[in-house]
Amino acid sequence: MLFNVNIDHVATLRQARGGIEPSVLDAALIVERCKCDAITVHLREDRRHIQDEDLFTIKKNVNIPINLEMALSEEIIEIALKLKPQQITIVPERREELTTEGGFDILKYFDKATSMLSVFKGTGISLSLFIDPDVDQITASKSAGVDIIEIHTGEYSNSSTTDTINFELDRIRKGAILGKEIGLQVAAGHGLNYTNIASIMNISEIEELNIGHSIISRSIFVGLEQAILEMKKLVEV
Ligand code: PXP
Repeated sequence: MLFNVNIDHVATLRQARGGIEPSVLDAALIVERCKCDAITVHLREDRRHIQDEDLFTIKKNVNIPINLEMALSEEIIEIALKLKPQQITIVPERREELTTEGGFDILKYFDKATSMLSVFKGTGISLSLFIDPDVDQITASKSAGVDIIEIHTGEYSNSSTTDTINFELDRIRKGAILGKEIGLQVAAGHGLNYTNIASIMNISEIEELNIGHSIISRSIFVGLEQAILEMKKLVEV
């Protein structure tokens, strides 16, 4: 299992005061020291947490891959082409949302997305699309030519009754099986924590996890290294 740690919320804390601490680079170095597979960062159009400079500082000083989450915007695409992360993950973005709500609608934006993503051809950057576990979204992602689908686990993570949890898990499982069957790599993320990760680990088609908020939250009490290592233990296969 590839385990990517999203460090956006280290930057959220820093931006709360507009200063230099906590250091996003130090967080990235800890992710590297913990031998995780990648650092995930989301450069939002409103720059509410990660800033452009963070990306280039991480790229320069850290040797593990960067997975850059980004909206399909001309401005951010230009930055991604300069940064050359190992992977980009296309997410939908609305300025007023608290966090990414729902997956990218590749059915609705198929033509726009395929044309905008064509600039990444030949760059060696892996393309991942963050989508809901829906049959049509998954098959359209394949047609769009992406390498990876990241299944949005937010609905599962927000579920509180056994019935809804099982319903959402079933959607994720079926989506992961279909994705793998049609030749896509399957990732998952959003709202995953130290408790709800166990059922996701039972879905063998999922090969990559992107986890942020729960780890950064736990790090307040136990430190970032321990918070990461505790999660790493749970996602090791
Ligand atoms: N994957 C994607 C595509 C995301 O947008 C996010 C949130 O930035 C995550 C994973 C991580 O979600 P969380 O912070 O809830 O673990």
